Amino acid sequence: MFFGKKGEIDTNNIPEHIAIIMDGNGRWAKKRGLSRSMGHREGSRTLKKIVEACYQLGVKYLTVYAFSTENWSRPKEEVNELMKLLLDYLRNAERELAGKKVRIKVIGEKKKLPAEIIKEIERVEKNTENIEGLDFIIALNYGGRQEIVEAVSKLVDDFGAGVLTEINEDTISERLYTKNIPDPDLLIRTSGEMRISNFLIWQLSYSEFYFCDVLWPDFSETHLKDAIKSYQGRQRRFGGVKC
Ligand code: IPE
Ligand code: IPE
Ligand code: MG
Repeated sequence: MFFGKKGEIDTNNIPEHIAIIMDGNGRWAKKRGLSRSMGHREGSRTLKKIVEACYQLGVKYLTVYAFSTENWSRPKEEVNELMKLLLDYLRNAERELAGKKVRIKVIGEKKKLPAEIIKEIERVEKNTENIEGLDFIIALNYGGRQEIVEAVSKLVDDFGAGVLTEINEDTISERLYTKNIPDPDLLIRTSGEMRISNFLIWQLSYSEFYFCDVLWPDFSETHLKDAIKSYQGRQRRFGGVKC
């Protein structure tokens, strides 16, 4: 295995798909005596930098967990602030990414989102659909279990309608939000929590996990490269044997 020069990442072994659980905005704000909303605002800035860094590194797919199906249980003001930030993010996405080849896709149960967000999602997805470069996937009102429920429900319908004759891993994968997207190679979670919190529970079966203590607003390109370096030192076996 080639590791590149000491301290550097091997540019020939960049994970094709990186998934990130962007966690720790609230604690970042609390440490500074700020409102949780300020933490989310700072987290949104970090996201812009990390999308750019992934693009420059040649990552093909980046999936970020922005809002879970469980996050609705947070105080109403916090949910409203998160929706507002997400709306701003989507509205400004193309301007922010100008000159870069980035296709944006949102995964999750979209119909339960506020109408203005649904409209922005449709607009930005349509505007970027033919771009080939980095596929940037935002998990919004996303829950892994919800995704499987929807897939199984489609499966049952298709089976009943005779469109489908076999139930296997492929026919399930094809009915997930992540249809046509390869499984993540590397999952990063910030803030020291070591759980997946209902994120991509099907797709992460053989991903490499990287947990770091840094709170999301403090996560930088250097931390991203540390995660990639760790990934590059792993031996992926997929259940087989490697000498
Ligand atoms: C992650 O930060 C952002 C979202 C879940 C939307 P948190 O808001 O979960 O921050 P902590 O975990 O409370 O610090
Ligand atoms: C997961 O973080 C969801 C997002 C990052 C959007 P949470 O902060 O909601 O997860 P738990 O509650 O700590 O498991
Ligand atoms: Mg959290």
